[in-house]
Amino acid sequence: MADRMHSADSITELDRRLGIPGIAQIVEGNGGLPKVRITSAAAEGEIYLHGAHVTSWHPSGFGEALFVSSKSRWQDGRAIRGGVPICFPWFGDKAGDPKAPAHGFVRTKSWQLDGISSSRDAVTVCMSTGSDESTKQWRPSDFMLIYRATFGAELRLELELQNAGASTLRFEEALHAYLKVGDVRSVSLRGLDGVKYVDKTDACRVKVQNGDVLIAGETDRVYLNTRSDVEVVDPSLRRRLCVAKDNSLTTVVWNPWEEKAAGMADLGDDEWKQMICVETSNVLGYAVEVAPGQQHRMTSVLTLAGS
Ligand code: BG6
Repeated sequence: MADRMHSADSITELDRRLGIPGIAQIVEGNGGLPKVRITSAAAEGEIYLHGAHVTSWHPSGFGEALFVSSKSRWQDGRAIRGGVPICFPWFGDKAGDPKAPAHGFVRTKSWQLDGISSSRDAVTVCMSTGSDESTKQWRPSDFMLIYRATFGAELRLELELQNAGASTLRFEEALHAYLKVGDVRSVSLRGLDGVKYVDKTDACRVKVQNGDVLIAGETDRVYLNTRSDVEVVDPSLRRRLCVAKDNSLTTVVWNPWEEKAAGMADLGDDEWKQMICVETSNVLGYAVEVAPGQQHRMTSVLTLAGS
């Protein structure tokens, strides 16, 4: 259930202050959560204030690029299953703290909508969040996170961390994109040939990728020390989805496959076939360190092409 911050009145007021008529509207989304809906000539899209979570990007001339589960939860404190969750300041489980939320605390937090701007070719939505009582129960650090999502012929996602504290901040981060595919069993991922990866399905053994990545079972890998673009070649949807990145040294590739998916309450039957996660990230030994008063910006850019 949406809290009082998200009442219909406050959504209308946000739209009055920050919406751009005919281009960007703040409306009530699933579960009553506020979202920005973009409708421009170049692209349609959606981003929720909950988690600053992009749930749709639909560039003109193509179908939807992102997968969202039909069983996703839409409520404060729970993560949306699909789209682009933001993982910060840890990835996966927090070391030594099994009670801490998986993938950090910002994907389940309500972010502030700071502004929306539009040009001829794209619409940019800017959101932010920072340390507060709720984050300090898990991490004492003082920080600000600024997120800019630009919807156009490409989807550009920029996550900026500002260290507002007095000591160096070390963190992991990921833009955990769920890409929509026709059938994950027939896609191939180009761009990681020869790259070392940690195989989380095989006791975290380090292996070397040989050729394209093909998905033939549960896949949970962290590709290490790679700046490469990854291209998802999808023969059934007859398209190629490219994930390019900047200031990111790891790429996570994840698909739960049948058995694990069956145990996930927020993923519909067989939906694991329609998704592949390709995550622009800095995780494990590639966690980022930022000195007091300094900032770090990681960028992920998605593009679609026919094949
Ligand atoms: C991936 C991780 O990025 O996210 C997986 O590598 C994890 O290990 C998956 O299972 C989904 O995580 P969650 O917390 O959204 O269920």
